[in-house]
Amino acid sequence: METSARSGSRRTWSRPWSGGPVRRRFSAGVRLVVALLLAGGVHALFAPSARAQEEPRLSAAAAEGEALFEVGCITCHGRSAGGVEGRGPSLINVGGASVEFQVGTGRMPLARQEAQAQRKPPQYSDEEVRQLAAYIDSLGVGPVVPDDVGARVEHADLARGGELFRVNCSQCHAFGGGGGALSSGKYAPSLYPASDRIIYAAMLSGPQNMPVFGDNTLTPQEKANIIAYIQRVIQSDTDPGGFSLGRYGPSTEGLAVFLVGIVALVFASLWIAGKS
Ligand code: HEC
Ligand code: HEC
Repeated sequence: METSARSGSRRTWSRPWSGGPVRRRFSAGVRLVVALLLAGGVHALFAPSARAQEEPRLSAAAAEGEALFEVGCITCHGRSAGGVEGRGPSLINVGGASVEFQVGTGRMPLARQEAQAQRKPPQYSDEEVRQLAAYIDSLGVGPVVPDDVGARVEHADLARGGELFRVNCSQCHAFGGGGGALSSGKYAPSLYPASDRIIYAAMLSGPQNMPVFGDNTLTPQEKANIIAYIQRVIQSDTDPGGFSLGRYGPSTEGLAVFLVGIVALVFASLWIAGKS
């Protein structure tokens, strides 16, 4: 080989600065030790595990969340939320927003497998939901619902929220927020029961067929504007006509008017026929 030939020749020539094979092996050893020390130092500086050994592994909330997870979720989502084949997906990197959405709306823990998890009365308190979210967050990176949602919603621009709602949400959730059917047995649910954090979490996590509205698509304030519109205009709408008709929009309203009109016409013609 070329290298061995060269080192052989070096040994015989012995350059002025080289102290022969022993010195060279020694300096190679020193270089190796220095390199290892450097690598170790850099690793210790930047590796999270090195720091994690000094601090507790999880925050207090995340530790509570881990305990809850091991009782209520581990059978389907597996150890350290790594997922279980055929039962539930891995939750690494889904983010706290997804947990707040799924557990806060009672969709999780899942009752049975179907096309779409149903909204149910939540089984965990708001605090427990936040703890579960903190635990899942500690396992990876993912979108998290910020703490200032309530404050932003208070100072929101309702008119702008209405526009953004009509452009981004109404095609699935209907103009009145009543929801509607989508393909293959799925549906966009009604927006009436949702709290501000749940609406925010839905936009951040994009469950099922719903798109993800990250902060590049809708800024946090734009999300807050939409939430304000949903809560103050849609959820507080009192159906001035008396019946909501499911708030499905013009098709059900048209059908109702058509049926009522036909019945009225039939009775009117019966009445006229009876008189003559
Ligand atoms: C009976 C099994 C089962 C149990 C128990 C269960 N899950 Fe799930 N989970 C699923 C399945 C299946 C899905 C995916 C189906 C879906 O998206 O509708 C899912 C989806 C999720 C998602 C959405 C993941 C994503 O990609 O965004 C989250 C978050 C979640 N589960 C959290 C939890 C938490 C927290 C618990 C415990 C409180 C829990 N689950 C209990 C089966 C389960
Ligand atoms: C492509 C259709 C689609 C669009 C567009 C869409 N969504 Fe959804 N949305 C869904 C579906 C499907 C679900 C149900 C997900 C599930 O059950 O896991 C949902 C669920 C929700 C929920 C949860 C309701 C509850 O309490 O159970 C909220 C809140 C929500 N969407 C808000 C919005 C907002 C706000 C927008 C606009 C920024 C929007 N969605 C745009 C399809 C859509």
